[in-house]
Amino acid sequence: MGSDGEETKVKTDADAEIVDVVVCSRFTVSDGIITMTVLRSNSLLLLVLVLLWFLVLTDHVTKAAAKTPRTQQDKGPEDTELRLQRSRKPSAPCFSASGPEPGDPADAFKVLTLDGEFSYEPGAARGSSTIIHAFTNKSAFLECLWSSEESVDSLVQDLPDSAQLLLLSMDESAVTDALWMREQLHRAAAKHSSKKEVLSRIHISPVPVFSLGNWIPYVLYNWGRKHGLAQAVFTSDRWKMPAIIKRLDARYDWLKGRWGQESFNLTDAGNGCEPSPYVAGAVAWVSEGNCSFFTKVQNMFKSNASGVLVHALPGNPIQDMNCVKDECNSSLDIPAAMVHLEPAVAQALRFGQKVNVSFQATPCPNFFISIDQQGALAEMGGFLYPSFSFVSWQAQWFDFYTELQTKLHRPADVLSVFDRALMHGHAGAVATVRLPSGWLDMDILELDVSLSCPSRRDVSCAHWDHTVQLFVCCDRLGPYCNAELGRWITAFRRGTGHWLTDVSPLLPLLDSNKCTFTMKTPPWAMPWMVSLNLRFSVSNETGTRVDKLRPFRVMSLYSGGTFDKNYNNRFQPIKFTVPASTRKVELFAVITGHGYDENRCCEFCVTSHHFIINATFNNSLIFDSAVSPLGCATQVKEGAVPNEYGTWLYGRGGWCDGLQVAPWRTDVTKQLDLSGSESNTVFYFGLFEGRNPDPSQEPGYIIMSSFFVFYK
Ligand SMILES: *[C@@H]1O[C@H](CO)[C@@H](O)[C@H](O)[C@H]1NC(C)=O
Ligand SMILES: *[C@@H]1O[C@H](CO)[C@@H](O)[C@H](O)[C@H]1NC(C)=O
Ligand SMILES: *[C@@H]1O[C@H](CO)[C@@H](O)[C@H](O)[C@H]1NC(C)=O
Ligand SMILES: *[C@@H]1O[C@H](CO)[C@@H](O)[C@H](O)[C@H]1NC(C)=O
Ligand SMILES: *[C@@H]1O[C@H](CO)[C@@H](O)[C@H](O)[C@H]1NC(C)=O
Ligand SMILES: *[C@@H]1O[C@H](CO)[C@@H](O)[C@H](O)[C@H]1NC(C)=O
Ligand SMILES: *[C@@H]1O[C@H](CO)[C@@H](O)[C@H](O)[C@H]1NC(C)=O
Ligand SMILES: *[C@@H]1O[C@H](CO)[C@@H](O)[C@H](O)[C@H]1NC(C)=O
Ligand SMILES: *[C@@H]1O[C@H](CO)[C@@H](O)[C@H](O)[C@H]1NC(C)=O
Repeated sequence: MGSDGEETKVKTDADAEIVDVVVCSRFTVSDGIITMTVLRSNSLLLLVLVLLWFLVLTDHVTKAAAKTPRTQQDKGPEDTELRLQRSRKPSAPCFSASGPEPGDPADAFKVLTLDGEFSYEPGAARGSSTIIHAFTNKSAFLECLWSSEESVDSLVQDLPDSAQLLLLSMDESAVTDALWMREQLHRAAAKHSSKKEVLSRIHISPVPVFSLGNWIPYVLYNWGRKHGLAQAVFTSDRWKMPAIIKRLDARYDWLKGRWGQESFNLTDAGNGCEPSPYVAGAVAWVSEGNCSFFTKVQNMFKSNASGVLVHALPGNPIQDMNCVKDECNSSLDIPAAMVHLEPAVAQALRFGQKVNVSFQATPCPNFFISIDQQGALAEMGGFLYPSFSFVSWQAQWFDFYTELQTKLHRPADVLSVFDRALMHGHAGAVATVRLPSGWLDMDILELDVSLSCPSRRDVSCAHWDHTVQLFVCCDRLGPYCNAELGRWITAFRRGTGHWLTDVSPLLPLLDSNKCTFTMKTPPWAMPWMVSLNLRFSVSNETGTRVDKLRPFRVMSLYSGGTFDKNYNNRFQPIKFTVPASTRKVELFAVITGHGYDENRCCEFCVTSHHFIINATFNNSLIFDSAVSPLGCATQVKEGAVPNEYGTWLYGRGGWCDGLQVAPWRTDVTKQLDLSGSESNTVFYFGLFEGRNPDPSQEPGYIIMSSFFVFYK
């Protein structure tokens, strides 16, 4: 029983790494084709708008935020570091070898916008984050991000109140790009009249990035993008030059294929709504419309095509090739992408000339950077598909982080266990510390944990969402040595995770003044840097000291195991007496499901966990959100790291990527006989969708530590 000495479990993982710009992983889909033409302002309107802009600019200056200088009280341990770094001036030119890194304070800057001047002052913008987006129409991903109604609507509807958004363009066409972005925003805002306020927090600059004259270009150009601009390269014997155009890869659950390095024959297959005998071994060139994207790709797959290029009809924007409804149940092993109709290609195919196509990615600047509410520069992570939801999620996380800072400033006796210690291999990170004097008077124990990476950039962060477990041993001969004190899941290639977890019920595990803490991931995982502070404090519940309850003993119950048909045969009822002078009993459990059998158990299936007390009381924990496509995106407000480079959005069995595993706590006092005679029983079992598990493929597993906690 308990997790004594148990090896950290293997993570046999079914999550895919995002290997390119648009690994889309959506079950839910807005149906059909977005019937939107790119509304290029007619020239008269354009002229009027430009004139208006100049008029507005001359007499109107807005400030990002009211000036509220930092007070001494605001300063935490982080601030000391920030001030030290601020004395080092980041250099502005984009070719310089050094400049600000993630975590550095953002220097002041001013940018002209369509509505006057946007001015960022360090300190003045406290409580507000600033997200900077640089648009370029050389990216099909960004074209789709901006022309998809769903995407722009989500920006207008969901951008948190605390976020300011500064929109820029990288190109010569910055003025028309700015007006176009404004048009898209105004159209979305017109549909959501209650959300018009958001427009006052969105600042659009007509000055191209290369003319900004501040540090922004340095950061955009140097914190390069992981994937680059996705492009299709067409060649033909008749052409002197290849035709190179942007492409948007459709990489969703329903589409598993990836483009390779090779060159393919390109073959016209009409609208792709019927199979074609001519496309075997070639990339099929099909037009949008008349049937769904899925139907086209499925037809070409059945016709043995090597890949599919769907081209937009003239005047239409590039779209996200979502599946619709039941289509999303199946998957096709073929790559597919959307491009514009390239006239030279269409003409060559019409005249029966041979055209080859290959696929490339050209390195490019970052499209998104940000300044958090504390004034530090931050990366924005990966966007799985073209939607502004990823901007909102990052801004939500900044809200979470600010709240966390407030909590960390509450009075507590803080004991540092790890300070950016290396956690790697079989040993993990290990430290032996002496507990602060007076800790026995404290009734609150919180774990302040952060996971960072070898360098300050996310590129140095470990892949995968691995389990991290913290074990403690104080009295080597005592019953609690190496019990699990906390559990977290790493963020896939992002180094910003920071969480505060209340584990007060486990205070009795600290059964001596000197304790050894061990923090581990699977030994083959890439290294993480861990920081752990124990925060001891006194609860401020109203009531006299006499009423205050303190946990004085824990009783280890069940641990999990392989989730197969014998799972429940391992567990026997436990008979127990409640220790004398107990006034409250709590069930405390940390349970997570991992692995991937044919039912996607236990990571992506609904398991439930039942502790039956006295054969009567059914205490159940059900992992409903494990099948919810956005189950973990909804946890960003609780600290789940957003915009990871894996499929972090999906709900999971009791956990999320980049989040602490929140302990499950239930007061069971009333279910028990507290008299002290041997009269209580507890019994645990776990179910898959309400039934005993019975997988036919390699089963998943449950990691569990569970206790009764006795308070007096
Ligand atoms: C972006 O480029 C496409 C073609 O590549 C064009 O149709 C569209 O109008 C452009 N959009 C903007 C805002 O320039
Ligand atoms: C065109 O693609 C074929 C393979 O489909 C390849 O054999 C050939 O070398 C390519 N030609 C050029 C010019 O790339
Ligand atoms: C590509 O086209 C060439 C000439 O049309 C043909 O010889 C070759 O077999 C084709 N390759 C494939 C893989 O279909
Ligand atoms: C296919 O769609 C186009 C454009 O929407 C339309 O003009 C055409 O008539 C359709 N063709 C068929 C066969 O339905
Ligand atoms: C596709 O390839 C399979 C296996 O090589 C073959 O049996 C089938 O007839 C092909 N289908 C078409 C439409 O070419
Ligand atoms: C697709 O999956 C959904 C949800 O799992 C299910 O309700 C539906 O019946 C499935 N459709 C088909 C055709 O299998
Ligand atoms: C007591 O705790 C609550 C919730 O944790 C907090 O909101 C409140 O400010 C605290 N009061 C004092 C006096 O510390
Ligand atoms: C728990 O069960 C025992 C016998 O199984 C019984 O004597 C006791 O009263 C029960 N306690 C409660 C609170 O139901
Ligand atoms: C406890 O509740 C779950 C559902 O909440 C149910 O599946 C299970 O059978 C119940 N067990 C008992 C013993 O009542």
